[in-house]
Amino acid sequence: MFKQVSVIGAGTMGNGIAHQFAECGFEVKLIDVNPTQLQTAMQIIGKNLDRKISKGLIDESTKTATLNRIQTSSDIVDGLAGSDLVVEAATENVDLKLKIFKQLDALADPETIIASNTSSISITRIAAATKRPGKIIGMHFMNPVPVMKLVEIINGYGTDPSVTKQIEELAIQLQKVPCVVNDYPGFIANRILMPMINEAIFSLYEGVAGVQEIDTVMKLGMAHPMGPLQLADFIGLDVCHAILKVLHDGFGNPKYAPCPLLSNMVMAGFLGVKSGEGFYQYQPGTKDLVVSPRFAKAR
Ligand SMILES: NC(=O)c1ccc[n+]([C@@H]2O[C@H](COP(=O)([O-])OP(=O)(O)OC[C@H]3O[C@@H](n4cnc5c(N)ncnc54)[C@H](O)[C@@H]3O)[C@@H](O)[C@H]2O)c1
Repeated sequence: MFKQVSVIGAGTMGNGIAHQFAECGFEVKLIDVNPTQLQTAMQIIGKNLDRKISKGLIDESTKTATLNRIQTSSDIVDGLAGSDLVVEAATENVDLKLKIFKQLDALADPETIIASNTSSISITRIAAATKRPGKIIGMHFMNPVPVMKLVEIINGYGTDPSVTKQIEELAIQLQKVPCVVNDYPGFIANRILMPMINEAIFSLYEGVAGVQEIDTVMKLGMAHPMGPLQLADFIGLDVCHAILKVLHDGFGNPKYAPCPLLSNMVMAGFLGVKSGEGFYQYQPGTKDLVVSPRFAKAR
């Protein structure tokens, strides 16, 4: 069915998406406006393939073949040539996404399906910026893409059912498990996850329990592999804050309002793993989980 895919954006998600497509036999064009990011992405893909070799999951020849199937480009016209599918994974910013989709719509063959990996922006709104709303769909991969099994497929209001079917089949070809949902704020994954994370932050803010206690209750009591505060640090507190705002604006319901502690941390630049500190502190070269001194218990 699909042979060649263009992946727009070579950041955290774009490199993982390119990796998964290439390892599953698709030709990939990886596009980013930042040429340095393209180099970094190829290095990350190489390292992630090495990790799979060391675990005995693939051999050296699979690594070589996977890397050979990925071409990089910082020119969108060149990057779209010959592709029968586009997966957009550029920065989560609504104006940027609308601009990119207008550009893709003008450049790509009218039959080409264009999927977005957005975590929270309305697929219906993105589709309305194009002349092909039936061919626009959400393909929400989870981080890290080569490891996580789920692809949340989001039907925009006007997505053609045959397009949904093709993308479901594609997710299976990519060795993932597709789940089709409709386009309402937060879809399913973030509509359920983000209020849980927000509630964990409110519990900390109100002094109900400390960071370690909140995460331990959820890990040992609910069998979550990671507590909600650690997960928030991993996702990025700015990303969590932005998604909660999408839920709050989209539903107009105060239950989604971001906790003031989360807002403060984001404004102050305490964004979790990516900034080195959030609810925990992250030192390069160590995997120890150390609670930030700001949340050391004062009892
Ligand atoms: N990080 C996650 O855990 C996660 C999980 C699921 C979905 N997502 C979604 O995936 C998308 C990408 O997120 P990310 O975390 O990879 O972001 P990122 O910041 O790591 O990467 C975004 C990349 O897009 C590039 N870019 C910006 N404008 C571009 C343009 N016009 N053309 C081509 N490239 C452009 C940037 O240079 C950057 O390299 C977002 O929509 C996000 O909501 C993220």
